[in-house]
Amino acid sequence: MVFAPGRINLIGEHTDYNDGFAFPAAINKGIALAISKNNSDKSKVYALNKEELYEFSLDTIKPLENGGWRNYVLGVVSEIKKRGLNIGNFNSVFAGNIPGGAGMSSSAALENSFVYGLNELFALGLSKNEMILISQKAEHNYAGVKCGIMDQYASMFGVKRSALLLDCRTIASQPFRIDLKKYTLMLINTNVKHDLSESAYNERRSVCEKVSRKLYVKALRDASIENLEAIKNEISSGDYQKALYIIQENKRVQLFSEIIQEGDVNALGKLLYQSHEGLSTKYKVSCEELDFLIAQAKQNPNIAGARMMGGGFGGCTINLVLKSEYKKFRKDISTKFKKEYGKACAIYKVKLSQGTHLIK
Ligand code: GLA
Repeated sequence: MVFAPGRINLIGEHTDYNDGFAFPAAINKGIALAISKNNSDKSKVYALNKEELYEFSLDTIKPLENGGWRNYVLGVVSEIKKRGLNIGNFNSVFAGNIPGGAGMSSSAALENSFVYGLNELFALGLSKNEMILISQKAEHNYAGVKCGIMDQYASMFGVKRSALLLDCRTIASQPFRIDLKKYTLMLINTNVKHDLSESAYNERRSVCEKVSRKLYVKALRDASIENLEAIKNEISSGDYQKALYIIQENKRVQLFSEIIQEGDVNALGKLLYQSHEGLSTKYKVSCEELDFLIAQAKQNPNIAGARMMGGGFGGCTINLVLKSEYKKFRKDISTKFKKEYGKACAIYKVKLSQGTHLIK
C-alpha cells in the first residue's frame, strides 16, 4: 500500500515550467493505493470513491477520450513501458480525500501513487526523480496538460512541517521548517473549475516559450525585466504582461524564502497579495470567485495575505490568517461567499506532511 499526498503552494505560481522557483509543500490529504500482482492477462483498477472499475490490457494502452482518472493510471503505465521497463498485470484499488479541481494536485497524487506502487511491486529500480518525471509525462501525454514539475515533486518529496524551496531547473529543493507564529494557513475552495482551464494553461506555457525564444534565453528564469523591456515593442502587450509576471513572481519566491527565515508574517502576506495581483491582472489565470475571496481577505486586518493557488480558473485561495480569528473569518467568508454566489465555498486546514511513502 502506498500513500501519495496532494500539495499546497505558498508562492511561485506558473514559474515551474519557466525553469523558475516555487515553494510547495505536501499535505495531509492524498491518495491511498493498494496494489498486488495478479496472474491474469488483464490489469484492474478500482476507484473506490467513484465506485468505478476499469480493466485493461497492458499491451494495448492509449489515452482514452473523456477517460478522467483512468488516463493518469494508463499514462503512468505507458511511460514506464516507454523506458523499456517490464511490468506484469496487477489488481489495484485507490481512494482519496483531496477535493478534485481544487488546485491541490489530486492528479499528481494519483500518478505518484501508481508509479511508486508499480516500482515497488515489480522492483523497477526507479529513483524518486525518475518517478516524478514519469508522472509528469503521464500528465503531458495522457491528460494533455503540459504541466511543470512542481506538483509531482512536492507530492513525492514532501517533508513534515516544511515547505520546499524548489528550483525547477535543477529539480532539487531545500526544505524550510514553516512556523507562522500567531498565523495559520487556511484554504478556501471556490468549488468552481471553469472550462478551458487546460487549454488556457497550455497557451500560457507557449506564450512563455515564445517570449523566451525572442529573448534568446532557455527559459524566462534567465530573463531580467531590463531584457524584457528591450523587446517590449516587438511583442504584444498581453505577452509582455505575462512574461513580466513570471519574472516578478520568480523574484517574489526568492524574497519569500529570505523573509520566512526572519519570521515577518506581514511581509510574507504582502508578497502573497502581490502574487495574486500579478496572476489576476497580468497572467490572467484568476476568475471572479477567486478575486472576490482575495478582495474580502484584503479588507480584513486579521488576514496577513492571500492569493489564488495552483493553475487557476477556479480552485482554492491560500490565506494567512491570525489563529485567534480563524473561526470568525471562516464564518464570515462563508456567509459572504454564499450571499454573492448562491452556493457554498469549502474551507480546509492542512498540515504540511511527508511525501509519497509505503504504508506499513
Ligand atoms: C498546475 C501545474 C503545475 C504548475 C501550477 C501553477 O498545478 O500542474 O505544474 O504549473 O499549475 O503553478
